[in-house]
Amino acid sequence: MTDTATAETESPAKAEPAPTAAAEKPAAPKRAMRENLLVAEGVHKTFLHEGNVVEVLRGVDLSINEGEMVCVVGASGAGKSTLLHLLGTLDLPTKGRIKFADDDLTRMTSSQLAAFRNEKIGFVFQFHHLLPEFDALENVMMPGLVRGQARGPLRERARALLEEVGLAHRLDHRPGELSGGEQQRVALARALVMEPAVVMADEPTGNLDSETSESIHQLFFQLNETRKTTFLIVTHSRDLASRMPRVVSMKDGVIQRDERKAESYRGGADKTAEAVDEVFWHDKPTGDAPEEPDEEHEEAEPKDAEGAGASDD
Ligand SMILES: Nc1ncnc2c1ncn2[C@@H]1O[C@H](COP(=O)(O)OP(=O)(O)OP(=O)(O)O)[C@@H](O)[C@H]1O
Ligand SMILES: [Mg+2]
Repeated sequence: MTDTATAETESPAKAEPAPTAAAEKPAAPKRAMRENLLVAEGVHKTFLHEGNVVEVLRGVDLSINEGEMVCVVGASGAGKSTLLHLLGTLDLPTKGRIKFADDDLTRMTSSQLAAFRNEKIGFVFQFHHLLPEFDALENVMMPGLVRGQARGPLRERARALLEEVGLAHRLDHRPGELSGGEQQRVALARALVMEPAVVMADEPTGNLDSETSESIHQLFFQLNETRKTTFLIVTHSRDLASRMPRVVSMKDGVIQRDERKAESYRGGADKTAEAVDEVFWHDKPTGDAPEEPDEEHEEAEPKDAEGAGASDD
Protein backbone atom coordinates (compact mmCIF):
# COMPACT_ATOMS: atom_id res chain seq x y z
CA MET A 1 0.00 0.00 0.00
CA THR A 2 1.41 3.31 -0.99
CA ASP A 3 2.02 5.79 1.74
CA THR A 4 0.14 8.85 0.60
CA ALA A 5 1.65 11.05 3.27
CA THR A 6 5.03 10.36 1.77
CA ALA A 7 3.72 11.03 -1.70
CA GLU A 8 2.34 14.35 -0.57
CA THR A 9 5.46 15.35 1.28
CA GLU A 10 7.55 14.60 -1.78
CA SER A 11 5.79 17.12 -3.94
CA PRO A 12 7.85 20.15 -4.78
CA ALA A 13 7.34 23.03 -2.40
CA LYS A 14 6.57 25.89 -4.74
CA ALA A 15 6.58 29.50 -3.71
CA GLU A 16 2.96 30.17 -4.64
CA PRO A 17 1.73 33.72 -4.83
CA ALA A 18 -1.34 34.81 -2.89
CA PRO A 19 -1.39 31.91 -0.48
CA THR A 20 -4.51 33.19 1.23
CA ALA A 21 -6.62 32.90 -1.92
CA ALA A 22 -7.87 29.43 -1.08
CA ALA A 23 -9.14 30.56 2.30
CA GLU A 24 -11.16 33.31 0.72
CA LYS A 25 -12.67 31.10 -1.96
CA PRO A 26 -16.45 31.39 -2.08
CA ALA A 27 -18.18 28.34 -0.69
CA ALA A 28 -20.33 27.60 -3.73
CA PRO A 29 -18.76 28.43 -7.07
CA LYS A 30 -21.41 29.19 -9.64
CA ARG A 31 -20.10 27.73 -12.86
CA ALA A 32 -20.85 24.89 -15.19
CA MET A 33 -19.77 21.52 -13.93
CA ARG A 34 -17.35 19.78 -16.22
CA GLU A 35 -18.34 16.47 -17.72
CA ASN A 36 -15.80 13.67 -17.80
CA LEU A 37 -13.52 15.27 -15.24
CA LEU A 38 -11.81 12.04 -14.33
CA VAL A 39 -11.72 9.28 -16.90
CA ALA A 40 -10.33 5.75 -17.03
CA GLU A 41 -10.04 4.38 -20.55
CA GLY A 42 -9.43 0.70 -21.17
CA VAL A 43 -7.50 0.36 -17.96
CA HIS A 44 -5.73 -2.89 -17.25
CA LYS A 45 -3.54 -3.65 -14.28
CA THR A 46 -1.47 -6.74 -13.85
CA PHE A 47 0.97 -7.59 -11.12
CA LEU A 48 3.78 -10.09 -11.22
CA HIS A 49 3.57 -12.25 -8.17
CA GLU A 50 6.13 -15.00 -7.64
CA GLY A 51 6.53 -15.49 -11.36
CA ASN A 52 2.80 -15.47 -12.04
CA VAL A 53 0.91 -12.72 -13.79
CA VAL A 54 -2.03 -11.59 -11.71
CA GLU A 55 -4.65 -9.77 -13.77
CA VAL A 56 -6.31 -7.44 -11.31
CA LEU A 57 -8.07 -4.99 -13.63
CA ARG A 58 -9.19 -6.34 -16.98
CA GLY A 59 -10.41 -3.38 -19.00
CA VAL A 60 -12.08 -0.69 -16.93
CA ASP A 61 -13.83 2.29 -18.50
CA LEU A 62 -15.17 4.84 -16.09
CA SER A 63 -15.98 8.50 -16.49
CA ILE A 64 -16.74 10.75 -13.56
CA ASN A 65 -18.26 14.18 -13.94
CA GLU A 66 -17.32 17.13 -11.81
CA GLY A 67 -19.47 17.28 -8.71
CA GLU A 68 -20.54 13.66 -8.93
CA MET A 69 -20.69 11.39 -5.92
CA VAL A 70 -19.69 7.91 -6.95
CA CYS A 71 -19.28 4.88 -4.80
CA VAL A 72 -17.53 1.70 -5.78
CA VAL A 73 -18.75 -1.55 -4.31
CA GLY A 74 -17.94 -5.19 -4.84
CA ALA A 75 -16.55 -8.26 -3.16
CA SER A 76 -13.15 -8.29 -1.53
CA GLY A 77 -10.46 -8.70 -4.19
CA ALA A 78 -12.62 -7.29 -6.99
CA GLY A 79 -10.04 -4.57 -7.71
CA LYS A 80 -11.67 -1.55 -6.06
CA SER A 81 -8.59 -0.25 -4.23
CA THR A 82 -6.40 -0.93 -7.25
CA LEU A 83 -8.70 1.17 -9.41
CA LEU A 84 -8.74 3.96 -6.85
CA HIS A 85 -4.94 3.97 -6.72
CA LEU A 86 -4.74 4.26 -10.49
CA LEU A 87 -7.33 7.03 -10.67
CA GLY A 88 -5.46 8.82 -7.91
CA THR A 89 -2.16 8.41 -9.80
CA LEU A 90 -0.56 6.50 -6.96
CA ASP A 91 0.15 3.72 -9.42
CA LEU A 92 0.27 3.38 -13.22
CA PRO A 93 -1.98 1.19 -15.33
CA THR A 94 -0.34 -1.63 -17.28
CA LYS A 95 -2.48 -0.61 -20.24
CA GLY A 96 -4.96 2.19 -20.84
CA ARG A 97 -5.17 5.82 -19.83
CA ILE A 98 -6.26 7.95 -16.91
CA LYS A 99 -7.29 11.48 -17.77
CA PHE A 100 -8.14 14.47 -15.63
CA ALA A 101 -9.83 17.33 -17.47
CA ASP A 102 -7.62 17.67 -20.56
CA ASP A 103 -4.53 16.08 -19.09
CA ASP A 104 -3.38 12.55 -19.69
CA LEU A 105 -2.12 11.65 -16.22
CA THR A 106 -0.38 8.55 -17.48
CA ARG A 107 2.05 10.78 -19.36
CA MET A 108 3.06 13.07 -16.52
CA THR A 109 6.39 12.96 -14.74
CA SER A 110 6.43 11.92 -11.11
CA SER A 111 7.00 15.46 -9.85
CA GLN A 112 4.12 16.75 -11.99
CA LEU A 113 1.97 14.01 -10.53
CA ALA A 114 2.98 14.83 -6.98
CA ALA A 115 1.97 18.46 -7.52
CA PHE A 116 -1.26 17.37 -9.20
CA ARG A 117 -2.19 15.09 -6.30
CA ASN A 118 -1.39 17.72 -3.72
CA GLU A 119 -3.62 20.29 -5.37
CA LYS A 120 -6.47 18.32 -6.89
CA ILE A 121 -6.98 15.16 -4.90
CA GLY A 122 -7.67 14.47 -1.27
CA PHE A 123 -7.08 10.88 -0.21
CA VAL A 124 -8.67 9.11 2.69
CA PHE A 125 -7.59 5.55 3.25
CA GLN A 126 -8.56 3.00 5.81
CA PHE A 127 -5.02 3.23 7.09
CA HIS A 128 -4.51 6.88 7.60
CA HIS A 129 -0.75 7.46 7.18
CA LEU A 130 -0.61 10.34 9.64
CA LEU A 131 2.82 11.62 10.58
CA PRO A 132 3.46 10.38 14.12
CA GLU A 133 5.69 13.23 15.25
CA PHE A 134 3.17 15.95 14.43
CA ASP A 135 -0.04 16.77 16.25
CA ALA A 136 -3.50 16.65 14.72
CA LEU A 137 -3.54 20.30 13.69
CA GLU A 138 -0.10 20.08 12.07
CA ASN A 139 -1.03 16.87 10.27
CA VAL A 140 -4.06 18.56 8.75
CA MET A 141 -1.98 21.60 7.79
CA MET A 142 0.72 19.45 6.18
CA PRO A 143 -0.47 19.44 2.52
CA GLY A 144 -0.66 23.26 2.66
CA LEU A 145 2.74 23.56 4.34
CA VAL A 146 4.27 21.35 1.66
CA ARG A 147 2.76 23.71 -0.87
CA GLY A 148 4.25 26.73 0.85
CA GLN A 149 0.95 28.25 1.95
CA ALA A 150 0.86 30.88 4.69
CA ARG A 151 0.50 29.34 8.13
CA GLY A 152 -2.18 31.65 9.55
CA PRO A 153 -5.08 31.00 7.18
CA LEU A 154 -4.00 27.40 6.78
CA ARG A 155 -4.16 26.88 10.53
CA GLU A 156 -7.64 28.38 10.63
CA ARG A 157 -8.86 26.10 7.85
CA ALA A 158 -7.31 23.08 9.55
CA ARG A 159 -8.85 24.03 12.87
CA ALA A 160 -12.29 24.52 11.30
CA LEU A 161 -12.10 21.14 9.58
CA LEU A 162 -11.05 19.40 12.78
CA GLU A 163 -13.98 21.05 14.48
CA GLU A 164 -16.26 19.80 11.72
CA VAL A 165 -15.15 16.22 12.31
CA GLY A 166 -15.64 16.62 16.04
CA LEU A 167 -12.03 16.95 17.14
CA ALA A 168 -11.84 20.52 18.43
CA HIS A 169 -10.65 19.14 21.78
CA ARG A 170 -7.81 17.06 20.30
CA LEU A 171 -5.91 19.58 18.17
CA ASP A 172 -2.60 19.11 19.96
CA HIS A 173 -2.73 15.32 20.28
CA ARG A 174 -0.29 13.30 18.22
CA PRO A 175 -1.61 10.26 16.30
CA GLY A 176 -0.35 7.94 19.04
CA GLU A 177 -2.49 9.86 21.52
CA LEU A 178 -5.69 9.49 19.47
CA SER A 179 -8.09 6.59 19.05
CA GLY A 180 -8.29 4.80 15.68
CA GLY A 181 -11.48 6.60 14.77
CA GLU A 182 -10.04 9.94 15.79
CA GLN A 183 -6.96 9.31 13.67
CA GLN A 184 -9.24 8.53 10.75
CA ARG A 185 -11.08 11.79 11.24
CA VAL A 186 -7.79 13.71 11.27
CA ALA A 187 -6.92 12.00 7.97
CA LEU A 188 -10.25 13.10 6.57
CA ALA A 189 -9.68 16.70 7.63
CA ARG A 190 -6.23 16.52 6.04
CA ALA A 191 -7.74 15.25 2.80
CA LEU A 192 -10.07 18.24 2.69
CA VAL A 193 -7.71 21.04 3.70
CA MET A 194 -6.59 21.90 0.15
CA GLU A 195 -10.22 21.99 -0.94
CA PRO A 196 -9.46 19.36 -3.56
CA ALA A 197 -11.50 18.91 -6.71
CA VAL A 198 -11.81 15.20 -6.01
CA VAL A 199 -11.87 13.31 -2.75
CA MET A 200 -10.95 9.65 -3.06
CA ALA A 201 -11.75 7.54 -0.09
CA ASP A 202 -11.09 3.85 0.43
CA GLU A 203 -13.40 2.54 3.14
CA PRO A 204 -13.13 5.85 4.95
CA THR A 205 -15.45 4.94 7.77
CA GLY A 206 -14.68 1.23 7.90
CA ASN A 207 -13.16 1.52 11.36
CA LEU A 208 -15.59 3.98 12.87
CA ASP A 209 -18.66 3.59 15.05
CA SER A 210 -21.98 4.17 13.33
CA GLU A 211 -22.55 7.62 14.81
CA THR A 212 -19.14 8.96 13.74
CA SER A 213 -19.50 7.27 10.35
CA GLU A 214 -22.81 8.96 9.86
CA SER A 215 -21.42 12.39 10.69
CA ILE A 216 -18.59 11.87 8.22
CA HIS A 217 -21.00 10.71 5.52
CA GLN A 218 -23.06 13.83 6.19
CA LEU A 219 -19.91 15.90 5.81
CA PHE A 220 -19.27 14.29 2.40
CA PHE A 221 -22.76 15.17 1.21
CA GLN A 222 -22.48 18.67 2.62
CA LEU A 223 -19.14 19.30 0.90
CA ASN A 224 -20.51 17.94 -2.32
CA GLU A 225 -23.43 20.30 -2.13
CA THR A 226 -21.65 23.45 -1.01
CA ARG A 227 -18.29 23.11 -2.78
CA LYS A 228 -19.25 20.73 -5.58
CA THR A 229 -16.41 18.47 -4.51
CA THR A 230 -16.38 15.26 -6.51
CA PHE A 231 -16.35 12.14 -4.38
CA LEU A 232 -15.17 8.66 -5.27
CA ILE A 233 -15.72 6.37 -2.34
CA VAL A 234 -14.97 2.68 -2.04
CA THR A 235 -17.20 1.29 0.61
CA HIS A 236 -18.59 -1.88 2.10
CA SER A 237 -21.24 0.17 3.88
CA ARG A 238 -24.64 -0.67 2.45
CA ASP A 239 -26.08 2.33 4.20
CA LEU A 240 -23.72 4.76 2.49
CA ALA A 241 -24.00 3.03 -0.87
CA SER A 242 -27.77 3.20 -0.73
CA ARG A 243 -27.56 6.97 -0.38
CA MET A 244 -24.99 7.60 -3.07
CA PRO A 245 -26.30 8.94 -6.36
CA ARG A 246 -24.11 6.64 -8.42
CA VAL A 247 -23.03 3.13 -7.59
CA VAL A 248 -20.36 1.34 -9.58
CA SER A 249 -20.17 -2.36 -8.90
CA MET A 250 -16.98 -4.28 -9.62
CA LYS A 251 -16.43 -7.97 -10.01
CA ASP A 252 -13.23 -9.79 -10.93
CA GLY A 253 -11.46 -6.70 -12.23
CA VAL A 254 -14.23 -5.29 -14.39
CA ILE A 255 -17.16 -2.98 -13.85
CA GLN A 256 -20.23 -5.09 -13.71
CA ARG A 257 -22.85 -2.41 -13.13
CA ASP A 258 -22.85 1.34 -13.14
CA GLU A 259 -26.04 2.94 -11.93
CA ARG A 260 -26.98 6.55 -11.63
CA LYS A 261 -29.98 7.24 -9.48
CA ALA A 262 -32.60 9.94 -9.48
CA GLU A 263 -32.32 13.02 -7.26
CA SER A 264 -33.98 11.69 -4.16
CA TYR A 265 -31.00 9.64 -3.02
CA ARG A 266 -30.24 11.53 0.16
CA GLY A 267 -33.51 11.20 1.91
CA GLY A 268 -35.50 8.28 0.58
CA ALA A 269 -33.26 5.28 0.54
CA ASP A 270 -36.20 2.94 -0.11
CA LYS A 271 -35.95 2.47 -3.84
CA THR A 272 -32.18 2.67 -4.00
CA ALA A 273 -31.71 0.33 -1.08
CA GLU A 274 -33.19 -2.44 -3.18
CA ALA A 275 -30.77 -1.76 -6.01
CA VAL A 276 -27.86 -1.66 -3.60
CA ASP A 277 -28.99 -4.85 -1.96
CA GLU A 278 -28.88 -6.46 -5.33
CA VAL A 279 -25.44 -5.09 -6.02
CA PHE A 280 -24.19 -6.40 -2.71
CA TRP A 281 -25.91 -9.71 -2.62
CA HIS A 282 -26.21 -10.86 -6.20
CA ASP A 283 -22.87 -12.64 -5.91
CA LYS A 284 -23.94 -14.62 -2.89
CA PRO A 285 -24.51 -18.31 -3.26
CA THR A 286 -28.19 -18.90 -3.87
CA GLY A 287 -28.55 -21.67 -1.30
CA ASP A 288 -29.53 -19.16 1.36
CA ALA A 289 -28.66 -19.80 4.94
CA PRO A 290 -31.68 -19.72 7.25
CA GLU A 291 -32.44 -16.16 8.36
CA GLU A 292 -32.92 -16.94 12.00
CA PRO A 293 -32.03 -20.17 13.67
CA ASP A 294 -35.18 -21.92 14.80
CA GLU A 295 -35.37 -24.65 17.38
CA GLU A 296 -34.58 -27.37 14.88
CA HIS A 297 -31.27 -25.72 13.99
CA GLU A 298 -30.30 -24.66 17.43
CA GLU A 299 -28.69 -27.84 18.60
CA ALA A 300 -26.50 -27.98 15.50
CA GLU A 301 -25.22 -24.40 15.96
CA PRO A 302 -22.16 -23.82 18.08
CA LYS A 303 -23.05 -20.98 20.42
CA ASP A 304 -19.61 -20.41 21.83
CA ALA A 305 -17.82 -18.92 18.84
CA GLU A 306 -16.78 -15.68 20.38
CA GLY A 307 -16.25 -12.96 17.83
CA ALA A 308 -17.44 -15.24 15.06
CA GLY A 309 -20.13 -12.75 14.23
CA ALA A 310 -17.69 -9.88 14.06
CA SER A 311 -17.25 -8.81 10.50
CA ASP A 312 -15.24 -5.96 9.22
CA ASP A 313 -17.45 -5.53 6.21
N1 LIG B 1 0.88 -5.67 -5.55
C1 LIG B 1 0.11 -6.73 -5.83
N2 LIG B 1 0.64 -7.87 -6.28
C2 LIG B 1 -0.13 -8.94 -6.57
N3 LIG B 1 -1.48 -8.96 -6.44
C3 LIG B 1 -2.07 -7.84 -5.98
C4 LIG B 1 -1.31 -6.66 -5.64
N4 LIG B 1 -2.17 -5.71 -5.22
C5 LIG B 1 -3.40 -6.27 -5.29
N5 LIG B 1 -3.33 -7.54 -5.72
C6 LIG B 1 -4.46 -8.45 -5.91
O1 LIG B 1 -5.43 -7.78 -6.67
C7 LIG B 1 -6.73 -8.13 -6.26
C8 LIG B 1 -7.54 -6.87 -6.05
O2 LIG B 1 -7.01 -6.14 -4.94
P1 LIG B 1 -7.72 -4.84 -4.39
O3 LIG B 1 -6.95 -4.40 -3.22
O4 LIG B 1 -7.90 -3.89 -5.50
O5 LIG B 1 -9.14 -5.44 -3.96
P2 LIG B 1 -10.38 -4.70 -3.28
O6 LIG B 1 -11.52 -4.83 -4.22
O7 LIG B 1 -10.00 -3.35 -2.84
O8 LIG B 1 -10.68 -5.65 -2.04
P3 LIG B 1 -11.07 -5.28 -0.51
O9 LIG B 1 -12.55 -5.04 -0.52
O10 LIG B 1 -10.72 -6.52 0.23
O11 LIG B 1 -10.27 -4.09 -0.06
C9 LIG B 1 -6.58 -8.96 -5.02
O12 LIG B 1 -6.83 -10.30 -5.33
C10 LIG B 1 -5.15 -8.76 -4.61
O13 LIG B 1 -4.62 -9.91 -4.02
MG1 LIG C 1 -9.65 -2.50 -0.97
